[in-house]
Amino acid sequence: MRSKRSNSPLSQQQASPTRPASIGQVLFQVRTALFEYGAVSDEEEGRAEAEILLQHLLSVGTTELFASMRSPFPAEQRDALLAALVRRIRHEPLRYITGSCPFYGREFNVDARVLIPRPETEQLIDLALAWAVESNPESLRIADIGTGSGAIAATLATELPMPEVHAVDISRDALDVATGNCERLAGAGCVVFHEGDLTAPLKGRFDILVANLPYVQLKTLEDAEPELAHEPRGALDGGASGMDVIDRLVPQLPALMNPQHSLVLLEIDPPLAAPTITLVEKHLPGASITILSDFAGLARVAEIRINS
Ligand SMILES: C[S@@+](CC[C@H](N)C(=O)[O-])C[C@H]1O[C@@H](n2cnc3c(N)ncnc32)[C@H](O)[C@@H]1O
Repeated sequence: MRSKRSNSPLSQQQASPTRPASIGQVLFQVRTALFEYGAVSDEEEGRAEAEILLQHLLSVGTTELFASMRSPFPAEQRDALLAALVRRIRHEPLRYITGSCPFYGREFNVDARVLIPRPETEQLIDLALAWAVESNPESLRIADIGTGSGAIAATLATELPMPEVHAVDISRDALDVATGNCERLAGAGCVVFHEGDLTAPLKGRFDILVANLPYVQLKTLEDAEPELAHEPRGALDGGASGMDVIDRLVPQLPALMNPQHSLVLLEIDPPLAAPTITLVEKHLPGASITILSDFAGLARVAEIRINS
């Protein structure tokens, strides 16, 4: 924590006992508290988080929030706001507090059983959709390995016409969250769920395989921001090299992918680009592999095209 200016992060709100604080004033206080208590690293981040928190508590969208800046902050929401602020100041990720996270234009329910979907993972969706348009097959068989919240599976099931989507996770808890999200967003039965290790539960050949598996190096994990400790260790831990899980997945691909024409997309960490290329060249010698960068310019996706 940067400072302990008062016992309550919202104590200034009580400055005028006769006039309740407006939503705009509370927004400013929350933003300041988030920054001063060290939950965010700059005021801009504090502003963005304060807006999300208030939208969640007041059940309003951005436009409605800004239109109600002069309205009094509802007294009955004050305890809930304080509780949320305390959780955030203790470094619980904002998205676990609000219970939802946007991904590719849809809201996914998230809690501590699943990784919070990251914006950079949306690139996997763009690449899969582009390949699908270019390939124009009649129906696609798609595998999402390490589905977590179901963000990738539900998005592809919704964006593509009539695909057969299979989602695998080793965590029963994660599959429960994924099932709820996929059924709500894509419809019941649109994704087939499998509990198990990597591709072991899958049968037949696939046209697209997308995998955002644990890839964080142990050392990075130990030095990481405190928020990361709230996310499931099994969703992040890639072992000492970061390659533990990817090392086991890639040798399974030749038996699983359509050998004539198929696509594999792996989300990676920048230091894993070179070992991933070596691994793919060894196990899929005829395939082409391209490493793509995310919006921060960091190597983030291995795109593997298999063609006979
Ligand atoms: C980084 S999270 C990705 C979640 C989601 N796909 C996303 O992009 O937000 C990795 C997921 O892989 C799962 N996982 C880890 N090891 C696995 C394995 N050997 N087989 C299947 N799933 C695994 C974890 O439980 C976790 O849900």
